[in-house]
Amino acid sequence: MMKIVKGPYLQRPTMDSMTIMWETSERTFSKVEVLQAERIHSGHQGNYKQPEHIIRSITNETSALIHEVTIDNLEPSTIYFYKIYAGDSVEGGPFPFKTAVRSGESFSFAVTSETGGYSGFDSTDGQINRNIFKQMSRYRPDLALFIGDVVDDGQRYEDWEQYFFGPGKELFHSTPVFSFLGNHENQGSWYYDFFAFNPPKNYYSFDYGDAHFICLDATDFIPSETYPHLNGQLHCVNPQIDFLLSDLQATTAKWKIVYFHYPPYVSGGYQVEDLRVLSPFFEQYGVDLVFNSHTIIYERSHPLRAGQVDFEQGVVYIVAGGAGAMENWLLPKREWHTSQAVAVPHFVQVVVTSDRLEVRAIDEEGRLFDTLQIRKSVEGKKSFF
Ligand SMILES: [Fe+2]
Repeated sequence: MMKIVKGPYLQRPTMDSMTIMWETSERTFSKVEVLQAERIHSGHQGNYKQPEHIIRSITNETSALIHEVTIDNLEPSTIYFYKIYAGDSVEGGPFPFKTAVRSGESFSFAVTSETGGYSGFDSTDGQINRNIFKQMSRYRPDLALFIGDVVDDGQRYEDWEQYFFGPGKELFHSTPVFSFLGNHENQGSWYYDFFAFNPPKNYYSFDYGDAHFICLDATDFIPSETYPHLNGQLHCVNPQIDFLLSDLQATTAKWKIVYFHYPPYVSGGYQVEDLRVLSPFFEQYGVDLVFNSHTIIYERSHPLRAGQVDFEQGVVYIVAGGAGAMENWLLPKREWHTSQAVAVPHFVQVVVTSDRLEVRAIDEEGRLFDTLQIRKSVEGKKSFF
């Protein structure tokens, strides 16, 4: 019997488009309907009524198991609803989505990771993952970023449902999701099948509001054969370094946020110091935040520049090892670069406005346990609070 086995989930949000993906148990056509969102202004809840008015219907007759449909010509910063269809009798939705905000408009994103990387140690049968996804949903992020190791073994098909698409199902119906290759993704081809990032997919960048996001593939810089050391010297003939530099040179976005798996700065096990070779690029081009995971704890660095604490122009590194519970992975004492570090399951909420970034770390019970504000003047001068 035909079933929707993953999703629907959202990919590649832009100001005028959204990509919707889902997987079916049998090969079938791909069909999406976009419905107009209508607010109810009476009563005590500001909400949307059950959408009925279809404003777009897209059908791709090519039979598929993993479906990908892009809806374009939408309005920016606008809520719509969508439904998907599988075969003649199965439908999913309606679920809301929101197109990307315009420059100057605030938005928020949520960051976590290790939903699968922690699994080998997890005696709670996935409860930590479910708690983290529930807390992320409460904060209604515009985007969800995962810093890798979302599965235990990315080559195993079942893992993607068990650790990621299953516990994330409700969140992913309405929140565009980004991830990349951690070591646990294990170069699995499912990563390339399940995500709709721009080619080559293992690294990419995108704009959202006033922020520019760059995703790097740390497992390409440091493959398992040379871990924790670089695969030779990084220089400008490395296509990923070429991409990073030309991308940083080209962007005019106010905020620059980079994310990759292995942490160059963490006061715990699994620090990959060789990746500090990337820091001069981040410093030169004014990157504000770097997100890493791999070490299953939370850690935020001081602003760092040229291997020192620098509260004028430093780059802040955050290890958002979401499942977060490996206390014995922390060193006995903090390092010179550590501002805050604690081993608790968590996610990180970032609110982006035109002149500040608000960073909050929230545990699996919804408790706030760390905050940071970065303000930036029109001239680009940073202040940290
Ligand atoms: Fe990892």
